[in-house]
Amino acid sequence: MLKAVILIGGPQKGTRFRPLSFEVPKPLFPVAGVAMLQHHIEACAKVPNMKEILLIGFYQPNEELNRFLFNAQQEFKISIRYLQEYAALGTGGGIYHFRDQIVSGSPEAFYVLNADVCSAFPLAEMLSFQKEHGEPNSFVILGTTANRKQSMNYGCIVENETTKEVLHYVEKPSTFVSDIINCGIYLFTPEIFQHIGAVFQKNQQDMLLYPYDGEEPTNGWHRAEAIRLEQDIFTALAGQGKLYVYKTLSFWSQIKSAGSAIYASRLYLNQYHTTHPERLATIKEGGA
Ligand code: GDD
Repeated sequence: MLKAVILIGGPQKGTRFRPLSFEVPKPLFPVAGVAMLQHHIEACAKVPNMKEILLIGFYQPNEELNRFLFNAQQEFKISIRYLQEYAALGTGGGIYHFRDQIVSGSPEAFYVLNADVCSAFPLAEMLSFQKEHGEPNSFVILGTTANRKQSMNYGCIVENETTKEVLHYVEKPSTFVSDIINCGIYLFTPEIFQHIGAVFQKNQQDMLLYPYDGEEPTNGWHRAEAIRLEQDIFTALAGQGKLYVYKTLSFWSQIKSAGSAIYASRLYLNQYHTTHPERLATIKEGGA
Protein backbone atom coordinates (compact mmCIF):
# COMPACT_ATOMS: atom_id res chain seq x y z
CA MET A 1 0.00 0.00 0.00
CA LEU A 2 0.93 3.62 -0.40
CA LYS A 3 0.67 6.80 1.66
CA ALA A 4 1.15 10.48 0.99
CA VAL A 5 2.47 13.34 3.07
CA ILE A 6 1.73 16.97 2.26
CA LEU A 7 4.07 19.57 3.77
CA ILE A 8 1.94 22.56 4.67
CA GLY A 9 4.45 24.71 6.61
CA GLY A 10 3.12 27.12 9.18
CA PRO A 11 2.02 30.66 9.99
CA GLN A 12 5.36 32.47 9.75
CA LYS A 13 5.75 31.07 6.25
CA GLY A 14 3.58 32.35 3.42
CA THR A 15 4.25 35.99 4.23
CA ARG A 16 4.27 36.79 0.53
CA PHE A 17 0.59 35.95 0.56
CA ARG A 18 -0.28 38.87 2.81
CA PRO A 19 -2.76 40.45 3.15
CA LEU A 20 -4.79 37.58 1.64
CA SER A 21 -3.35 35.01 4.06
CA PHE A 22 -4.67 36.95 7.08
CA GLU A 23 -8.13 35.60 6.25
CA VAL A 24 -7.28 31.99 5.37
CA PRO A 25 -4.16 29.91 6.09
CA LYS A 26 -2.19 29.71 2.83
CA PRO A 27 -2.76 25.97 2.18
CA LEU A 28 -6.52 26.61 2.22
CA PHE A 29 -6.35 29.60 -0.10
CA PRO A 30 -8.71 28.95 -3.02
CA VAL A 31 -7.10 28.11 -6.33
CA ALA A 32 -9.46 27.44 -9.23
CA GLY A 33 -12.42 27.41 -6.83
CA VAL A 34 -11.16 24.93 -4.23
CA ALA A 35 -8.55 25.00 -1.46
CA MET A 36 -4.96 24.86 -2.76
CA LEU A 37 -4.54 21.55 -0.89
CA GLN A 38 -7.62 19.94 -2.36
CA HIS A 39 -5.85 19.51 -5.70
CA HIS A 40 -3.12 17.52 -3.94
CA ILE A 41 -5.60 15.42 -1.98
CA GLU A 42 -7.66 14.65 -5.04
CA ALA A 43 -4.57 13.51 -6.96
CA CYS A 44 -3.36 11.34 -4.05
CA ALA A 45 -6.79 9.77 -3.50
CA LYS A 46 -6.83 8.70 -7.16
CA VAL A 47 -3.64 6.62 -6.90
CA PRO A 48 -4.56 2.91 -6.58
CA ASN A 49 -3.72 1.47 -3.12
CA MET A 50 -3.49 4.88 -1.44
CA LYS A 51 -4.38 4.26 2.22
CA GLU A 52 -3.78 7.52 4.01
CA ILE A 53 -2.85 11.16 3.53
CA LEU A 54 -0.95 12.96 6.29
CA LEU A 55 -0.59 16.71 6.43
CA ILE A 56 2.48 17.87 8.34
CA GLY A 57 2.93 21.44 9.45
CA PHE A 58 3.28 23.81 12.37
CA TYR A 59 -0.10 25.55 12.25
CA GLN A 60 -2.09 25.35 15.47
CA PRO A 61 -5.04 23.08 14.74
CA ASN A 62 -7.89 25.43 13.85
CA GLU A 63 -11.52 25.23 12.93
CA GLU A 64 -11.00 25.97 9.25
CA LEU A 65 -8.39 23.26 8.86
CA ASN A 66 -10.54 20.77 10.80
CA ARG A 67 -13.58 21.54 8.70
CA PHE A 68 -11.56 21.20 5.50
CA LEU A 69 -10.14 17.83 6.62
CA PHE A 70 -13.55 16.54 7.67
CA ASN A 71 -15.10 17.48 4.32
CA ALA A 72 -12.19 16.11 2.30
CA GLN A 73 -12.36 12.75 4.12
CA GLN A 74 -16.05 12.50 3.33
CA GLU A 75 -15.58 13.48 -0.28
CA PHE A 76 -12.55 11.32 -1.07
CA LYS A 77 -13.34 8.43 1.34
CA ILE A 78 -9.79 8.22 2.61
CA SER A 79 -8.14 8.80 6.00
CA ILE A 80 -6.61 12.28 6.19
CA ARG A 81 -4.85 13.42 9.37
CA TYR A 82 -3.03 16.55 10.43
CA LEU A 83 0.21 16.07 12.37
CA GLN A 84 1.57 19.17 14.05
CA GLU A 85 5.29 19.74 14.49
CA TYR A 86 6.34 21.35 17.80
CA ALA A 87 8.46 23.79 15.75
CA ALA A 88 9.44 24.24 12.11
CA LEU A 89 11.53 21.13 11.51
CA GLY A 90 12.19 21.69 7.82
CA THR A 91 11.10 19.63 4.84
CA GLY A 92 12.99 16.53 6.09
CA GLY A 93 12.70 17.02 9.87
CA GLY A 94 8.91 16.89 9.90
CA ILE A 95 8.64 13.57 8.10
CA TYR A 96 11.44 12.15 10.26
CA HIS A 97 9.71 13.24 13.46
CA PHE A 98 6.51 11.50 12.36
CA ARG A 99 8.18 8.47 10.72
CA ASP A 100 6.36 5.95 12.94
CA GLN A 101 3.01 7.30 11.78
CA ILE A 102 4.15 7.23 8.15
CA VAL A 103 5.46 3.65 8.19
CA SER A 104 2.63 2.24 10.31
CA GLY A 105 0.74 -0.32 8.25
CA SER A 106 3.96 -0.93 6.25
CA PRO A 107 3.53 1.11 3.08
CA GLU A 108 6.05 0.06 0.43
CA ALA A 109 6.39 3.68 -0.63
CA PHE A 110 5.03 7.14 0.14
CA TYR A 111 4.78 10.46 -1.67
CA VAL A 112 5.85 13.78 -0.21
CA LEU A 113 4.29 16.88 -1.76
CA ASN A 114 4.98 20.55 -1.11
CA ALA A 115 1.65 22.26 -0.48
CA ASP A 116 2.56 25.40 -2.39
CA VAL A 117 2.76 23.91 -5.87
CA CYS A 118 0.24 23.57 -8.64
CA SER A 119 0.65 20.47 -10.76
CA ALA A 120 -1.04 17.78 -12.80
CA PHE A 121 0.53 15.50 -10.13
CA PRO A 122 1.64 12.56 -12.30
CA LEU A 123 1.85 10.33 -9.21
CA ALA A 124 1.01 6.97 -10.81
CA GLU A 125 3.61 7.71 -13.50
CA MET A 126 6.23 8.35 -10.82
CA LEU A 127 5.49 4.94 -9.33
CA SER A 128 5.88 3.14 -12.67
CA PHE A 129 9.06 5.12 -13.29
CA GLN A 130 10.43 4.06 -9.89
CA LYS A 131 9.88 0.39 -10.72
CA GLU A 132 11.87 0.78 -13.95
CA HIS A 133 14.80 2.83 -12.65
CA GLY A 134 17.49 1.86 -10.20
CA GLU A 135 17.13 -0.66 -7.40
CA PRO A 136 13.68 -1.40 -5.95
CA ASN A 137 14.23 1.10 -3.12
CA SER A 138 15.18 4.06 -5.27
CA PHE A 139 13.77 7.53 -4.58
CA VAL A 140 12.17 9.70 -7.26
CA ILE A 141 12.04 13.49 -7.61
CA LEU A 142 9.53 14.98 -10.01
CA GLY A 143 11.38 17.39 -12.29
CA THR A 144 10.48 19.84 -15.00
CA THR A 145 12.48 22.19 -17.19
CA ALA A 146 12.81 25.92 -16.61
CA ASN A 147 14.76 28.62 -18.40
CA ARG A 148 18.31 29.41 -17.29
CA LYS A 149 17.43 32.46 -15.23
CA GLN A 150 14.33 30.99 -13.59
CA SER A 151 16.04 27.72 -12.71
CA MET A 152 18.22 29.37 -10.07
CA ASN A 153 15.14 30.01 -7.86
CA TYR A 154 14.61 26.27 -7.48
CA GLY A 155 16.44 23.08 -6.65
CA CYS A 156 18.53 22.20 -9.72
CA ILE A 157 19.19 18.68 -10.91
CA VAL A 158 21.90 17.28 -13.16
CA GLU A 159 20.82 13.89 -14.51
CA ASN A 160 22.45 10.97 -16.25
CA GLU A 161 20.51 11.21 -19.49
CA THR A 162 20.45 7.45 -20.00
CA THR A 163 19.74 6.12 -16.51
CA LYS A 164 17.87 9.23 -15.19
CA GLU A 165 19.92 9.09 -12.03
CA VAL A 166 20.39 12.39 -10.18
CA LEU A 167 24.14 13.05 -10.44
CA HIS A 168 24.16 16.48 -8.77
CA TYR A 169 21.62 18.37 -6.74
CA VAL A 170 22.06 22.04 -5.84
CA GLU A 171 19.37 24.02 -4.03
CA LYS A 172 18.86 27.53 -5.47
CA PRO A 173 22.36 27.86 -6.92
CA SER A 174 23.89 31.30 -7.44
CA THR A 175 25.15 30.39 -10.92
CA PHE A 176 23.52 28.25 -13.59
CA VAL A 177 23.66 24.52 -12.86
CA SER A 178 20.91 22.85 -14.88
CA ASP A 179 17.57 23.64 -16.45
CA ILE A 180 15.97 20.63 -14.73
CA ILE A 181 14.30 21.83 -11.56
CA ASN A 182 12.82 20.13 -8.49
CA CYS A 183 8.99 20.31 -8.49
CA GLY A 184 8.74 19.60 -4.74
CA ILE A 185 7.00 16.25 -5.33
CA TYR A 186 8.79 13.05 -4.30
CA LEU A 187 8.33 9.31 -4.07
CA PHE A 188 10.26 7.67 -1.22
CA THR A 189 10.48 4.25 0.34
CA PRO A 190 10.77 3.94 4.15
CA GLU A 191 14.53 3.59 3.60
CA ILE A 192 14.69 7.40 3.30
CA PHE A 193 14.47 7.51 7.11
CA GLN A 194 17.88 5.82 7.40
CA HIS A 195 19.38 8.68 5.42
CA ILE A 196 17.54 11.37 7.38
CA GLY A 197 18.42 9.52 10.60
CA ALA A 198 22.12 9.66 9.73
CA VAL A 199 21.91 13.45 9.32
CA PHE A 200 20.01 13.70 12.60
CA GLN A 201 22.74 11.75 14.44
CA LYS A 202 25.43 13.90 12.88
CA ASN A 203 23.59 17.09 13.87
CA GLN A 204 23.33 15.81 17.44
CA GLN A 205 27.04 15.06 17.59
CA ASP A 206 27.90 18.45 16.10
CA MET A 207 25.79 20.11 18.77
CA LEU A 208 27.68 18.28 21.52
CA LEU A 209 31.03 19.16 19.98
CA TYR A 210 30.16 22.73 19.19
CA PRO A 211 27.52 23.92 21.69
CA TYR A 212 25.48 26.92 20.62
CA ASP A 213 27.58 30.02 21.15
CA GLY A 214 25.46 32.60 19.44
CA GLU A 215 27.06 31.90 16.06
CA GLU A 216 24.89 30.67 13.21
CA PRO A 217 25.26 26.90 12.90
CA THR A 218 25.98 25.58 9.39
CA ASN A 219 22.40 24.50 8.72
CA GLY A 220 21.02 27.75 10.07
CA TRP A 221 19.03 26.07 12.81
CA HIS A 222 19.72 25.29 16.44
CA ARG A 223 18.00 21.94 16.52
CA ALA A 224 19.31 18.51 15.54
CA GLU A 225 15.83 17.60 14.32
CA ALA A 226 15.68 20.49 11.84
CA ILE A 227 16.60 18.87 8.54
CA ARG A 228 16.11 20.00 4.96
CA LEU A 229 15.43 17.33 2.37
CA GLU A 230 17.01 19.46 -0.32
CA GLN A 231 20.38 20.61 1.09
CA ASP A 232 20.89 17.89 3.72
CA ILE A 233 19.57 14.78 1.95
CA PHE A 234 19.36 15.15 -1.84
CA THR A 235 22.76 16.79 -2.23
CA ALA A 236 24.37 13.85 -0.37
CA LEU A 237 22.33 11.16 -2.15
CA ALA A 238 23.13 12.48 -5.64
CA GLY A 239 25.50 10.20 -7.53
CA GLN A 240 24.97 7.31 -5.08
CA GLY A 241 22.69 5.27 -7.34
CA LYS A 242 19.65 5.99 -5.13
CA LEU A 243 18.01 9.13 -6.44
CA TYR A 244 16.28 9.43 -9.83
CA VAL A 245 14.45 12.22 -11.63
CA TYR A 246 11.17 11.74 -13.49
CA LYS A 247 10.78 14.66 -15.86
CA THR A 248 7.21 15.64 -16.58
CA LEU A 249 5.89 17.60 -19.54
CA SER A 250 2.57 18.24 -17.76
CA PHE A 251 1.87 21.62 -16.18
CA TRP A 252 3.55 22.72 -12.98
CA SER A 253 4.07 26.00 -11.17
CA GLN A 254 4.82 27.33 -7.72
CA ILE A 255 2.25 29.21 -5.63
CA LYS A 256 4.27 31.68 -3.60
CA SER A 257 2.29 34.89 -3.99
CA ALA A 258 -1.27 35.98 -4.64
CA GLY A 259 -0.22 36.74 -8.22
CA SER A 260 1.10 33.24 -8.80
CA ALA A 261 -2.18 31.85 -7.42
CA ILE A 262 -3.93 33.50 -10.37
CA TYR A 263 -1.56 31.81 -12.80
CA ALA A 264 -2.09 28.47 -11.00
CA SER A 265 -5.87 28.95 -11.21
CA ARG A 266 -5.52 29.32 -14.94
CA LEU A 267 -3.60 26.04 -15.20
CA TYR A 268 -6.17 24.14 -13.13
CA LEU A 269 -9.15 25.73 -14.93
CA ASN A 270 -7.64 24.54 -18.19
CA GLN A 271 -7.39 21.02 -16.77
CA TYR A 272 -11.05 21.15 -15.61
CA HIS A 273 -12.17 20.79 -19.25
CA THR A 274 -11.26 17.12 -18.95
CA THR A 275 -11.25 16.45 -15.19
CA HIS A 276 -14.09 18.59 -13.78
CA PRO A 277 -16.28 20.15 -16.48
CA GLU A 278 -19.00 20.58 -13.81
CA ARG A 279 -16.80 23.11 -12.00
CA LEU A 280 -16.69 25.37 -15.05
CA ALA A 281 -19.36 28.00 -15.65
CA THR A 282 -21.88 27.27 -18.38
CA ILE A 283 -23.90 29.71 -20.40
CA LYS A 284 -27.31 29.53 -18.78
CA GLU A 285 -29.80 31.91 -17.32
CA GLY A 286 -28.57 33.17 -13.98
CA GLY A 287 -25.19 31.56 -14.65
CA ALA A 288 -21.82 33.26 -14.52
N1 GDD B 1 5.84 20.77 7.82
C1 GDD B 1 6.74 21.66 7.38
N2 GDD B 1 7.72 22.07 8.23
N3 GDD B 1 6.62 22.12 6.15
C2 GDD B 1 7.55 23.00 5.72
C3 GDD B 1 8.61 23.48 6.53
C4 GDD B 1 8.68 22.97 7.87
O1 GDD B 1 9.55 23.33 8.67
N4 GDD B 1 9.36 24.34 5.81
C5 GDD B 1 8.78 24.41 4.59
N5 GDD B 1 7.69 23.61 4.54
C6 GDD B 1 6.80 23.39 3.39
C7 GDD B 1 6.26 24.68 2.81
O2 GDD B 1 4.99 24.97 3.34
C8 GDD B 1 6.17 24.35 1.33
O3 GDD B 1 4.95 23.70 1.02
C9 GDD B 1 7.33 23.37 1.11
O4 GDD B 1 7.59 22.80 2.39
C10 GDD B 1 8.63 23.97 0.55
O5 GDD B 1 8.82 25.19 1.15
P1 GDD B 1 10.16 26.05 1.23
O6 GDD B 1 11.03 25.50 2.28
O7 GDD B 1 9.70 27.47 1.32
O8 GDD B 1 10.96 25.80 -0.12
P2 GDD B 1 10.79 26.53 -1.54
O9 GDD B 1 9.36 26.52 -1.91
O10 GDD B 1 11.53 27.80 -1.59
O11 GDD B 1 11.56 25.49 -2.49
C11 GDD B 1 11.18 24.14 -2.48
O12 GDD B 1 10.20 23.90 -3.48
C12 GDD B 1 10.60 24.15 -4.84
C13 GDD B 1 9.45 23.77 -5.74
O13 GDD B 1 8.33 24.53 -5.49
C14 GDD B 1 12.44 23.33 -2.77
O14 GDD B 1 12.13 21.97 -2.60
C15 GDD B 1 12.95 23.60 -4.18
O15 GDD B 1 14.02 22.74 -4.47
C16 GDD B 1 11.85 23.35 -5.19
O16 GDD B 1 12.32 23.68 -6.50
